Formats: sequence, C-alpha cells, structure tokens
Amino acid sequence: MNKKHLYIRTYGCQMNVRDSEVVAGLLKAEGYKLTDDPASADVVIINTCSVRELAEQKAWSEIGRIAKKSQVTSHKSQVKPLIGIIGCMAQNYKESIFQRAPEVDFVVGPTDIAKIPGIINELVRGSWSVVRGPALFERKIWETGGQNRPEEIYHSGFYADKEHAFVVISEGCSNFCSYCVVPYVRGPLRHRNCEDIIAEIRRAIEQGITRVTLLGQNVNAYRSSLKRKAQSAKLQRKVQNDREVGFVDLLRKVNQIKGLKEFSFVTSHPKDTSIELFQAMAELKKLKKYLHLPVQSGADRILKAMNRGYTRKFYLELAHDYRRIVKGGQLTTDIIVGFPSETKEEFKETYELVKEADFDASFIFKYSPRPHSAAAAMADDVEKREKERRHKLILDLQKSISRKKRCAKD
Ligand code: 5AD
Ligand code: SF4
Repeated sequence: MNKKHLYIRTYGCQMNVRDSEVVAGLLKAEGYKLTDDPASADVVIINTCSVRELAEQKAWSEIGRIAKKSQVTSHKSQVKPLIGIIGCMAQNYKESIFQRAPEVDFVVGPTDIAKIPGIINELVRGSWSVVRGPALFERKIWETGGQNRPEEIYHSGFYADKEHAFVVISEGCSNFCSYCVVPYVRGPLRHRNCEDIIAEIRRAIEQGITRVTLLGQNVNAYRSSLKRKAQSAKLQRKVQNDREVGFVDLLRKVNQIKGLKEFSFVTSHPKDTSIELFQAMAELKKLKKYLHLPVQSGADRILKAMNRGYTRKFYLELAHDYRRIVKGGQLTTDIIVGFPSETKEEFKETYELVKEADFDASFIFKYSPRPHSAAAAMADDVEKREKERRHKLILDLQKSISRKKRCAKD
C-alpha cells in the first residue's frame, strides 16, 4: 500500500515544536509518513506562531508560497494537497484564514489538535461541512472552540529526536502579561497529571530517549494532585498530605527516573520562582543548571504596565540568589524594547539591568501590538527606528558580555 505523505512546517516556540510532533504522531498512527518536501506531500500542515507580528508575517508568506505551489501541482497532477493551518494563528484568525488564503482546507487551534486526523478523514471522504458565506468557503473545516486536550495525544511516543524529548507539563497561561497573545490563543493554564508526565518519560526512555526538556509557558506555577487511591485510613492520611505536587516535587520525581541522564525546563516566570527551586537545581544531579528567566524590562513603571507582578529589585535579587545557590548555573532572559510609552531613561534601566544580571544570553524583541492583548489599546508610540536603536544597543551589550564570559572560560 502506498503511504500518504505529511509535511509539517513549524514556527515559534518549543511548545509548537512539540505540538507538531504530537500531530505527526497522531497522523503516523493513521499510516502517514513524514516528508521534508512539501511538493510531494498529500497533507501540508503549517503550525503557526502569533507571539510577535514578525512571526505572523513569516507564516503568511509561507502559506502564500505553499498555496501557490499547490495550484501548480494541482494543474499538473489534478491533485492538490490538503493544506492545514494550525497553532496560534489558527486560533487568532479562525475561519477568516480561508478568506485570505482560499487554498487552505482546514484551520485548527492549539487546543483542538487531537481532532486533526478526523478532520483530514472527513475532507478526504468529502463529508465536509459547508461553511457559511461565499462558495469559495465550501469544503472547509475549522476547529477553534476546544477547552482541553485529551491526555492520550501525548501517548504516540513519536519524538523527532532519537535521544531528546520535549515533555509538556502544562498548557496555556493565565498570567495575562499586557503585551502577550498567549492566554488568548492557548487558553488558561492547565496542568498535566504528575503520574502521566512520569509515565510519558518512562515510555520515552524505553525507546532510547536519555534527555528531556519539561515544557510550559510558566513551569513554576505547576501543580498537580496525585490520582492514587487510598486503600486504608493510614494511606488516606498520607495521600492527603502529599495530595499536591508542586513544580519542585515534580523535578525531584523526574530526577529519580531510571535511565534518564539529563533534564531541564522552560519557561520560568520570576514571580513564581523560588529559592526552593534554586536549592533543587543545586542538588538534583540530573537537572541541568540552566534557567531561562524572562525579565522583559528593567524599569518598574514598564514592568507594572506589562502586568509582570515583580519589580526590578525583586528580579535582580532573584538573579543574585540563583548565581549564589546554583554555582556555575547559566542564566538567560527575554527582553522587549519599545513597549508603549517606554522612555529613554526607562530603556537605560533595562540596559543597566542586563549588565548587572550578567546574562549568558538574552533574546531581545522589538515590541509589536498583538490582537486581544491589553497593551494593544495603548499607543504604540516608540518609533520603529528608536526600537531598532534600543534593540541593537542591548544586542551589542549582550554580545560583549557573552564574549567576556567565553574568554573567562578559555
Ligand atoms: N512584542 C514583542 N515581543 C513579545 N514577546 C511576547 N509578546 C511580545 C510582543 N507583543 C516576547 C517576550 C516573550 C517572548 C517569547 O516573546 O519577550 O518572553
Ligand atoms: Fe505570555 Fe506572560 Fe504567559 Fe509568558 S507568562 S506566555 S509572556 S502571558
């Protein structure tokens, strides 16, 4: 039997990388084979990112390219691949994607990815829903209303890398940082059960995985209750005692998994990061001494306007505690320059914070307004050239810090 071919292109964060694997795993179970050539694919899926405007622009261009190519292929061979847009842009733009790119056949938001095999089958069989609006919209399916992902989607055991696996511990985010689209496109924070996470890692190890990265938008807020049933009154008391598993408990449990050589986690939110976490990082043998702790800004007024929930002083103290407790640990960050109304003085405070925190790496972004987000209602009043200037200044500063650190190591 000829296998059907699937091409997936992924934009954005590691969560999206993992989501693409999950979708590939679901479709492999249906007999699909992965290809890295979109021209030979029966199904083309673009997993999109909405976190910054630039990411969306790149995805729109790729959608345009794939759509154009599919017209050429369909003229030649009479078969056009099915084209699906999934991920954050799917959630953000929903069925309006069909208007902008009529060649797209299905649109699926991040919480609905379990439905993708069913949607493809429906489209192949031709029992598609007829969509409201112009004829152009016929034979299209979109799913963006889901609330939860079924746990089973993580069970396919497919990881793109033979030795390393991304393992989701929580989905969505409830922090509502004012610049950020994530809570709107990925929904509120939900936690996977601790037992399910451990079971996934064990299964991954059985198939050769030795390194794991635990994933969540804010891993430090992780909470889970133990599912274990108490059989006796004594056990009942014990279960009540350890009913809640927090992030540090989870790390301790993962550290004990036999066969696992190394693990790490992303992303941490300063407001939920504790000394207890640093102590665990210093102590747990398999846990990588690496902390990605986005600061976003070094100015208190801007941090407040961003709704970050901490001050410059709090962040710097946290960074110092980390360096003190986790000896030799790496510290990296994210920074946004040109947030609405950010003054030159406030930018200078961010610049000085980068120097003081002595980051091993910084990811620097120029602010862009995002749909739904609170900051989108504020005037995007830092000029493009000024954003570029601030971006370059911190980039150059970080380069010199990184260079200095490399020299110190050699
Ligand atoms: N504009 C610019 N950068 C943003 N980020 C999130 N939203 C925006 C936005 N609207 C950055 C933050 C976040 C990283 C993943 O992307 O720094 O930590
Ligand atoms: Fe966005 Fe803030 Fe949640 Fe990170 S913590 S995903 S920046 S809302």
